[in-house]
Amino acid sequence: MTLIPTTDLPVDAIQLGSPEVWSRPDRDAMFAKLRAERPVSFHEEPEFIGFPKGPGFWAITRYDDVVRVSRDSDTFSSGRGSNIGDLPVELLEFFGSMINMDAPRHTKLRKLVNRGFTPRVIASLEESVRTTARRVVETVAPKGACDFVEEVSSLLPLKIICDMMGIPEADNRRMFELSNVILGIGDPEYGVTMDVLMSAAIELSQYAQALGEARMATPGEDITSVLMSADVDGERLTPSEFASFFILLVVAGNETTRNAISHGMKALTDFPDERRKWMADFEGVAPTAVEEIVRWATPVIHFRRTVTKDVELCGQCIREGEKVVIWYNSANRDERAFPEPFRFDVTRAPNEHVGFGGGGAHYCLGANLARREIKLMFQELFRVCPDMRVVGQPDMLFSGFIHGIKRMRVEWTPPR
Ligand code: HEM
Repeated sequence: MTLIPTTDLPVDAIQLGSPEVWSRPDRDAMFAKLRAERPVSFHEEPEFIGFPKGPGFWAITRYDDVVRVSRDSDTFSSGRGSNIGDLPVELLEFFGSMINMDAPRHTKLRKLVNRGFTPRVIASLEESVRTTARRVVETVAPKGACDFVEEVSSLLPLKIICDMMGIPEADNRRMFELSNVILGIGDPEYGVTMDVLMSAAIELSQYAQALGEARMATPGEDITSVLMSADVDGERLTPSEFASFFILLVVAGNETTRNAISHGMKALTDFPDERRKWMADFEGVAPTAVEEIVRWATPVIHFRRTVTKDVELCGQCIREGEKVVIWYNSANRDERAFPEPFRFDVTRAPNEHVGFGGGGAHYCLGANLARREIKLMFQELFRVCPDMRVVGQPDMLFSGFIHGIKRMRVEWTPPR
């Protein structure tokens, strides 16, 4: 029986807008306290580089409320931004593409890009995901020790997203660096200023425009070609819409899956019985194990919505124009929704976690791809380095948005 963590901090002292929260060891306990005592609570906003501080936000911490907000995009709009800080309107779409849009524009764009993510397209990637996972693991296997993030978990999602988009291998590393800049905002190690952020986004955007134009002239097998020629109700993606979607994909498709795999390795080290259970029946346990890894990791910690009309949540009135922030990390540990939420259980069922979102219009477009990548990566790791384990503590990204691991040492017995 694993217990719900506790903290002596009074509920009034919990300030989710304070960057300090993200380096505190009792973070899970703070969310447990909020869920129990003040499931909808108001917080000051953190400073957002280069912009005036915003008016604050309501934090939604219980599972049912996170799902309700996610599924009602008429009341809880994404069009004014999905991160806590307010970006100027012209930057919202540039950085966020469809994640910062509402219907009907969001619906149209999603229909268009869905062409690149049909079950058939994703199934056709199976072999390439398997081959890449095998190559990554076999390359590192003789070493017996490495940094898991640099040499294992980051390489698979990066290569897959680059192959899908038709990005040549020589440019993969640059994509990795640029996505690190965009999601590393706030972590002092990366020292991201507004200028650095903008120049990373502009570089990605120019790269995408050139790639899109090249595929329009000479289509290939990649998603870029599919997207550049897709036509829904007579509408096509413009080069700048494509460039914004490209930025979203490179960022969303890389870090999230990388962190899920890293947290998965840490959990399998910390819970050796669960590893044994999975290794004893890999195929049988994989569907539930992969969902549990995503619930456990919750790679995306929150997203924001803006309220379009006065609404009541958990007895709290929220006014039109106010921001609500849905905390996936908290919903995924809600004791009302998951028995023993602090236990990592590879056979957990049911497991309706919100790691890929709460099920509304913006539900993760890449969820099935991510599931495949996680499964095939652990299949290869168990096959080639079955005793791989984390040594010491991971070096965590300082962020309240991405539950990131920057470095994590692993050791194993090299195969003979
Ligand atoms: C474990 C890995 C991943 C996690 C945890 C994750 C999580 C999320 C979350 C929480 C959302 C927002 C959902 C909502 O607002 O309801 C989202 C949206 C999105 N994700 Fe993922 N994601 C992952 C992998 C990927 C991959 C591999 C891709 C693409 C290749 C991707 C592409 C997207 C896109 C395009 C959206 C925006 C969808 C929209 O606005 O309609 N994600 N993801």
